[in-house]
Amino acid sequence: MDTYILGIESSCDETSASVVKNGRDVLSNVINTQIDIHKLYGGVVPEIASRNHIQNISEVVKMAIKEANIEFENIDAVACTYGPGLVGALLVGLSYGKALSFALDKPLIGTNHIEGHIAANYITYKELKPPFLCIMMSGGNTQIIHVKDYTEFEVLGRTRDDAIGEAFDKVARIMDLGYPGGPKIDELGKNGQATIELPKTHFENLDFSFSGIKTAVINLHHKNPDINKADLCKSFEKTVSEILIQNVKKAITQTGIKTIVLAGGVSANSYIREEFFKLENAKAYMPDLKLCTDNAAMIASAGYYNYLAGKISDLTLNAVPDLVL
Ligand code: KG4
Repeated sequence: MDTYILGIESSCDETSASVVKNGRDVLSNVINTQIDIHKLYGGVVPEIASRNHIQNISEVVKMAIKEANIEFENIDAVACTYGPGLVGALLVGLSYGKALSFALDKPLIGTNHIEGHIAANYITYKELKPPFLCIMMSGGNTQIIHVKDYTEFEVLGRTRDDAIGEAFDKVARIMDLGYPGGPKIDELGKNGQATIELPKTHFENLDFSFSGIKTAVINLHHKNPDINKADLCKSFEKTVSEILIQNVKKAITQTGIKTIVLAGGVSANSYIREEFFKLENAKAYMPDLKLCTDNAAMIASAGYYNYLAGKISDLTLNAVPDLVL
């Protein structure tokens, strides 16, 4: 029998709802992004994000049900992001999901946003199954994760300072490229040459650091405002890719696992994607571009595997802004 999960996502500046069948088939994925509102301020303003989620959530969920061509009664469970993210933003989607779960008498599945980013790959690649190594690259997270099973994870390494997406956004801001910075660097970098030497931090273990390279770019730009921005973007992307790939190679040696899965907003970066596809002796997977950044289909997919594992939440579930895997 088919299982239909309604996913709800509101952890940052996207209000999204989706219906996914059997964890892999997306019947609808409605995403209302607030980028145009927050770009006026150069970044996400939490209070404004929460208010917009409140305005949008009801319509977005109704549209997701309508586009999926089903009725609310056909839903088997409601999967909601409950962390990590902005607390006020998370509370909107979670409260809506809790109310829906109670009203429909369907199970509530509190879903970790990071698990959602990983699950975006199950939608893109119907054949993909754990175990694999995941390199999580989002606005708030950078981690190498051993995905042992659909709901079993071990974090092997993490950033000690900035998340990779944060570094992209700050570097873009200093160059006046606008918000969100990652896609702007991606576009501009396509016209540049990686001619500028930037620092890389190494650790004995699988941890990362991105604050050194970020500060180096900021200093270079301050000292020489006429620097070729396209070259700086390309050099930044190249150095960041080298940092990522070096750690992934170490993780492959350490675990013997050769299936590498990218996840999170920065996995949309065209330079990084190409570099990972070139990996020798390993196979790289990465989500469809539209599934790299925040969306509810990935939450519904992760929710499906938690549903199968019997990981049902109760209605006392609260938002956890600093939730980890
Ligand atoms: O995963 P995500 O949508 O949100 C979090 O869960 O954090 O990631 C957002 C991050 C932002 O820092 C954004 O600049 C970055 O992903 N991003 C990119 C690209 N598209 C989005 N970074 C580099 N290249 C891109 N094409």
